[in-house]
Amino acid sequence: MTQLLGVALRGTGSSLPARIVPNEEFTDVLNLDTSDEWIRSRTGIRERRFAGLGETSATLGTAAARLAVESAGLTPEDIDLIICATVTPDLMSPSTATLIQAGLGCRHIPAFDLSAACSGFLYALSVGAQFIRTGAAKHALVIGAEVLSRILDFTDRNSCILFGDGAGAVVLSGTPVLNAGVRTIRLYSDGSRQELIQVPSRVTPNPPPGPPQLQRLDHMRLSGREVFRFAVTRMVELIEQAETDLRELGLNGIDALIPHQVNQRIIDSALETTGFPRHKVMVNLDKYGNTSAASVPIALDEALRTGRCKPGDTVLLVAFGGGLTWSSAIITL
Ligand SMILES: CC(C)(COP(=O)(O)OP(=O)(O)OC[C@H]1O[C@@H](n2cnc3c(N)ncnc32)[C@H](O)[C@@H]1OP(=O)(O)O)[C@@H](O)C(=O)NCCC(=O)NCCS
Repeated sequence: MTQLLGVALRGTGSSLPARIVPNEEFTDVLNLDTSDEWIRSRTGIRERRFAGLGETSATLGTAAARLAVESAGLTPEDIDLIICATVTPDLMSPSTATLIQAGLGCRHIPAFDLSAACSGFLYALSVGAQFIRTGAAKHALVIGAEVLSRILDFTDRNSCILFGDGAGAVVLSGTPVLNAGVRTIRLYSDGSRQELIQVPSRVTPNPPPGPPQLQRLDHMRLSGREVFRFAVTRMVELIEQAETDLRELGLNGIDALIPHQVNQRIIDSALETTGFPRHKVMVNLDKYGNTSAASVPIALDEALRTGRCKPGDTVLLVAFGGGLTWSSAIITL
């Protein structure tokens, strides 16, 4: 019988494009009917990063992965598996993960993409953790990488102000210590509400009528107000559920909450309802906006690099987004 292993979080890394896009760019350059004041007060976002020429999910993902491998004290040849969560892959095929495998110079290991929108990183973490737990892989790279600026509708003030580009990565490694590292992961979906966030493409059934060159394909469509309500409700549920999970695991409490970086008001509403202490919440959405699958691993990496979190801490990761999907993980760092 397979001896199950613990799943340690051995390294983290992140990569952000150099180009900073302040809120003023939407008014001064794009002539949108919005303002820095509106964006800051309704979302908490001050600026975000947009990819430059030649920068893609694969290039950002490769840079983040390289840093994660280095921080784990490993080399790319040590990696046995790559999973990349993204909704903005470089190509429809092959996967971004294979481009990252080549970019890093890894062995001919399994590499594949996974799509669960803003929950993508936690979905990928769950798959990676199961390869590690069963011993099918010794060291796995789990990456969230996005260039959302390439699928935004810059005429839609409701959505284009919210998002940014970037990548975050972690290395998971097997450990004989069962009660370490990744403790629980919870994943959910509700496809009946798929229309709330969509990115239609050329393979979408029933594309809008009209000549293909005039169709607004590959652009995000978002029902912000409905997603806001969904996000608060699910974030509250995930925090309450984690408190039950912690008691069952015999853990004292959560040292840090790292939520999907979506909107300060969503986070604030969930904290108010649950009474979760504000000082334990890692937020960097003011600098990067919502980077979908990349948001949680970027924030996790920043929390570790800046000393907000330290080895031994128990962190709760929560994410929610298109699908609809929602997810959480409890990890002892
Ligand atoms: C999009 C979001 C910021 C809008 O904030 P909100 O407080 O819900 O605002 P509403 O949608 O109720 O709109 C209020 C008004 O602001 C306007 N508005 C929307 N975007 C605006 C902008 N960038 N600048 C100025 N006004 C704006 C709306 O048109 C509306 O005007 P109206 O009352 O005349 O119709 C918020 O709903 C949100 O963050 N939603 C979740 C984001 C999301 O879906 N993320 C992706 C998945 S995780």
